Amino acid sequence: MSFSILGTGKAVPEYVLTNDELSTMVETSDEWISTRTGIKKRHICKEETITELCVQAAEEAMSNAGVTAKELDLIICATLRGEYITPSQACVVQKELGATCPAFDINAACSGFIYALDVAAGFFARGRVKKVLVIALDNLSNIVDWKDRNTCVLFGDGGGAAVLGEGDSLLSIEITAKGDTDVLKCPHGENTSPFYKHPSEHPYLYMNGPEVYKFAVVSMVKGIKRAIKNAGLKEEDIDWVIPHQANIRIIETAVSKLKIPSERFIRTIAEYGNTSGGSCAIALADSVSQGKFKKGDNIVFCAFGSGLTTGSCVIRWDKD
Ligand code: ACO
Repeated sequence: MSFSILGTGKAVPEYVLTNDELSTMVETSDEWISTRTGIKKRHICKEETITELCVQAAEEAMSNAGVTAKELDLIICATLRGEYITPSQACVVQKELGATCPAFDINAACSGFIYALDVAAGFFARGRVKKVLVIALDNLSNIVDWKDRNTCVLFGDGGGAAVLGEGDSLLSIEITAKGDTDVLKCPHGENTSPFYKHPSEHPYLYMNGPEVYKFAVVSMVKGIKRAIKNAGLKEEDIDWVIPHQANIRIIETAVSKLKIPSERFIRTIAEYGNTSGGSCAIALADSVSQGKFKKGDNIVFCAFGSGLTTGSCVIRWDKD
């Protein structure tokens, strides 16, 4: 027993920040951003809070699943920075939805959605739950240094949600971590303790892009291959790939190294940029609402991100 995906939803902020507008803020251009990353625009929070976005995505997923808040047995929120240090984002969402089940967050950055699915699968396997709400959503605009062109052009806000029920859709799943604070990190802000001896680091997202790029390409190809093998399938059995949307060049490199036709790779990066943990969940929700999947389709997910973490899985779509 693993799970079946009963319904999906997504939420992104209304405000759209284009490459041209970004070019008025830092020394960059639509040409550089488009050709080096594939990003054309991203959605950025102005009015919306992360809680409002999480609730919007969750309500859409629950409505599509035909599941009410009272029926939920667990809420897992994958985010690297919720509204508060405590309570968890999942607890805040639980209150807003009027649910009564246990709720907690996990932080696996861009791999968060797949980490959350794996954790949920464990609860299903132990017979502890019948309905689980997974939300994967980040608002990195909060932690990006808007004066640093190396990072601020890459990210967008938003994410998605999925309601899971009992079923056998999960054919394989694997998560990995390779602890690293050199190539990708975001320190906390100032430590207010008068006793603490260490200097504060700048509370902005720091990324060594080329190093993360190398890790990403290797992880993407390896993750997809292993997920397929562990599911007992071959590359030609795969109908769709939902890769983490960090850079279109990472996706195209994976396409060139795998025997899966290019048109089976979902690409949403032009519209949303890199939404961290939200990325695979948005791509899933958009694909479902566009009617891309049919019953029996094998879908591979693969993500990588800060940690350094990776996650990959194969899900067999079991809805008409
Ligand atoms: N506009 C114009 N020029 C720029 C910009 C910009 N926005 N950003 C960097 N440049 C310049 C650099 O300064 C450099 O100039 P120089 O040669 O004069 O020094 C040049 O462009 C090339 O810079 P690189 O960093 O080598 O560019 P690269 O082709 O590697 O692309 C990028 C950078 C897009 C960040 C790429 O490395 C990448 O996508 N890395 C992976 C990111 C990723 O996958 N992150 C996922 C995890 S995020 C998370 O977990 C929260």
